Amino acid sequence: MALERTLSIIKPDATRRNLTGAINALLEAAGLRIIAQKRLRLSEARAKEFYAVHKERLFYSDLVKFMTSGPVVVQVLEGEDAVLLNRKVMGATDPALAVEGTIRKTFAESIEANSVHGSDSPDNAKIEIEFFFSQDEIVG
Ligand code: RTP
Ligand code: MG
Repeated sequence: MALERTLSIIKPDATRRNLTGAINALLEAAGLRIIAQKRLRLSEARAKEFYAVHKERLFYSDLVKFMTSGPVVVQVLEGEDAVLLNRKVMGATDPALAVEGTIRKTFAESIEANSVHGSDSPDNAKIEIEFFFSQDEIVG
């Protein structure tokens, strides 16, 4: 076990339905600590850059449109095995396949409007955290 940090995003479908607190209650109950947080609106350019790994995928332009459709809350989570633990609490990308009690099973509207993002590896977590936060904005 290792103390890790991961990037979490509460997506526009969730901020629109006022679910920020409900989602963060599940993250905190799982043992993850929110050590940095801000609410912002992604520009098209920033959303495209953030999701550049998916630029060849058919869903890329829809995803960029969705992620810029309303405010998001970006946050850094810290905890033991935070990357994997956050993915576990989030549940499968498609809410229809997500385990009972996970964030996506509980709140997601669809495979696209699935309420949360979480980094998928420690290396990507570092890149994604640096994409949104400077060192002095992270208070561990
Ligand atoms: P995320 O990156 O947001 O944490 O989600 P993930 O790893 O579970 O899923 P990923 O494959 O990285 O896809 C990124 C996001 O793109 C949207 N998506 N839409 N229409 C579709 O078939 C489709 N597939 C993926 C979702 O918002 C997904 O979270
Ligand atoms: Mg992903």
